[in-house]
Amino acid sequence: MEPSPRCQVSRSSTFQEASELANISWDNIAFLPIPTDFMYAAKSLEDGIFTKGQLQRFGPIHLSPCAGVLNYGQGVFEGMKAYRKADGSILLFRPEENALRMRMGAERMCMPVPTVEQFVDAVKQTVLANKRWIPPPGKGSLYIRPMLLGTGSVLGLAPASEYTFLIFVSPVGNYFKEGLAPLDLIIETEIHRAIPGGTGGVKAIGNYSPVLKAQSIAKGKGYSDILYLDSVHKKYVEEVSSCNIFVVKHNIISTPTVSGTILPGITRKSIIEVAQRQGFQVEERLISVEELLVADEVFCTGTAVVVSPVGSITYLEKRIKYGNGVGIVSQQLYSALTSLQMGLTEDTMGWTVVL
Ligand code: COI
Repeated sequence: MEPSPRCQVSRSSTFQEASELANISWDNIAFLPIPTDFMYAAKSLEDGIFTKGQLQRFGPIHLSPCAGVLNYGQGVFEGMKAYRKADGSILLFRPEENALRMRMGAERMCMPVPTVEQFVDAVKQTVLANKRWIPPPGKGSLYIRPMLLGTGSVLGLAPASEYTFLIFVSPVGNYFKEGLAPLDLIIETEIHRAIPGGTGGVKAIGNYSPVLKAQSIAKGKGYSDILYLDSVHKKYVEEVSSCNIFVVKHNIISTPTVSGTILPGITRKSIIEVAQRQGFQVEERLISVEELLVADEVFCTGTAVVVSPVGSITYLEKRIKYGNGVGIVSQQLYSALTSLQMGLTEDTMGWTVVL
């Protein structure tokens, strides 16, 4: 595959000599879409099996205005990252987990889904085809966005007759504008992210836009993001708009139980296992807002946010601060996880996939 003409290879450092890199400034890349060279697409056939799929030039997709995803939001997505190691190899993190989560979401949203093997193979193909967009070590990662979309036409409310499995990638840096600095969250008491029996526990595309209004208001007031409470008791902590939440008290780490209204984060699951391996007691349970407010440390986890420490939480006009700077436990878990993901420590868990 020849490189796209709009991007030339830069040859200004030793690392770039050894491995082609796209010609962009790799310092301080944000979490914003950067067009890369290729995307992957596969379509479902009538029996729900997906076609082999192909890489194609990154660009606009052809979609009927009647597509199920446009009219009724029939779609799920995933978020993953690839890191470049200093030796030039590329690491994926637990890609089968994303494939399995997409399967769970597709089942809830009444969609056929590619096999785990097809999902992982498609991710690998897309990453390798866009290799020159993977940031140099220490400069960020290649964010991978697999999507499963109802692209067949509908008019009445019904499952689409055709589905597209699409993957695009973009180099990214820190998710929050705060970088690695602690976040200032505000607890939302009126608007809820998920309801029992709803789709909060799967990565449905429609879970995300309903939080935008509250999020923009909060950002306008200087907060980093919103922390949502359960919609029944309005008392238990659930998750932040785009990530899971953990609290630390007396060195015990707790996180809300995943029970249908909370996304089963792969970073969440990995942090639980990493923390247990490091000797921490980890509890998955209901966490009341009162408990959160007296925690020693609070942090968020997610593919995009990695492990982001929380510096303050505002609840009913009262602002609670957590220590000065990044908490010790958050820092320790951040380092342990990212060292694994970036291939800086030996992967005894068998989580990384080398390309
Ligand atoms: C991720 O963490 O990868 C997500 O999909 C969250 C998204 C809102 C950026």
